[in-house]
Amino acid sequence: MSPLARYTGLIERYRDRLPIDDDAEIITLREGNTPFIRLRNIPRRLAKEVQLYVKYEGLNPTGSFKDRGMTVAVTKAVAEGSRAIVCASTGNTSASAAAYAARAGLTAFVVIPDGKIAQGKLAQALMEGAVVIQIKGNFDDGLRIVKALVKEAPVTIVNSINPYRLQGQKTAAFEIVDDLGRAPDYHCLPVGNAGNITAHWIGYCEYAGAHGECLTSACLFCGGKCPYARNAVSDKRPVMVGYQATGAAPFMRGHMVDQPETVATAIRIGHPQSWEQAWKVQEESGGWFDECTDDEILAAQKLLAEKEGIFCEPASATSLAGAMRDIEGGKIAENSTIVCTLTGHGLKDPDAAIRQSTGPLLRVDATLAEVKRAILGNMA
Ligand code: F0G
Repeated sequence: MSPLARYTGLIERYRDRLPIDDDAEIITLREGNTPFIRLRNIPRRLAKEVQLYVKYEGLNPTGSFKDRGMTVAVTKAVAEGSRAIVCASTGNTSASAAAYAARAGLTAFVVIPDGKIAQGKLAQALMEGAVVIQIKGNFDDGLRIVKALVKEAPVTIVNSINPYRLQGQKTAAFEIVDDLGRAPDYHCLPVGNAGNITAHWIGYCEYAGAHGECLTSACLFCGGKCPYARNAVSDKRPVMVGYQATGAAPFMRGHMVDQPETVATAIRIGHPQSWEQAWKVQEESGGWFDECTDDEILAAQKLLAEKEGIFCEPASATSLAGAMRDIEGGKIAENSTIVCTLTGHGLKDPDAAIRQSTGPLLRVDATLAEVKRAILGNMA
């Protein structure tokens, strides 16, 4: 049997580096093990020589990286006897929470901003049997309410303030090092709540640490003696670069943003929960934050689909949009190895894709002659 045929999810694969008890009932949908793809055509268009990879997290079971955290958070919720989970979400967390709750036999309550989540994500939460609560407010309002709510109701919060979420998400960094044989020079991510950039840094640090060695203060988990640093798998860690959408860029403004706005609804967040940790990631890794306009984000999404055949949602393309600019501008060094995380699948947000699509959509009669004419008239 091939090793892939035996793949049973990220908890089993990285169990010795995760907070899972031996007798735990694992709630999994075989998440993780996502494609790590070297780009072919986009690097040729850049003025600088680089090795550019994407980690296609849209190919997780519910179409986003959230599944990595959710398998751990829901496995823990079940172990602790919880009967219901709750989250605020811009869409992907709700889709993932709903799916893992369904699998575990729990109830999922998801609080989403009215009218501001992509259709695919709403469809997922509804089909997967979550109780969907639309609020007349944004994600930040929702999270504030959910954080207060869990002090008064017997439900487990599965937003990234639940520490098990980041523990699951750190495995993406393990996979990259395992696939590449070492850590990349730069790792670029879209930043909303800043949980994922923090989780990746934790993962890289644990893979670089010797036994028990804690290499980051951004991980609030171990209190100084890392139980998951076993043997140093990689000898270096990447520079971490976080890109935000211009209308929702608190890390660029240096303070919280009250009315975030961007076409990339997944990262329409003005009050990031992992604010302190993400600044530590930036400092410890020697990285930086920057912002991309909605136009840059959409252009990168389209370029990736057209030139590489990889379809991600708008928020995900923020990593590539920023990376391309920083490669061209020389901030990212020539000849380096760069990984961009593509956080969610393009099918999550078909409206955004169709709105900006310029590809020919021809209507012709159902005859050989007409179809042939359409084809010959459009040959490259
Ligand atoms: N990309 C996508 C597709 C997302 O859904 C999110 C966050 C991010 C990037 C940002 O990650 O928050 O860890 O910095 N989505 C959350 C949600 C907020 O509710 O689905 P982050």
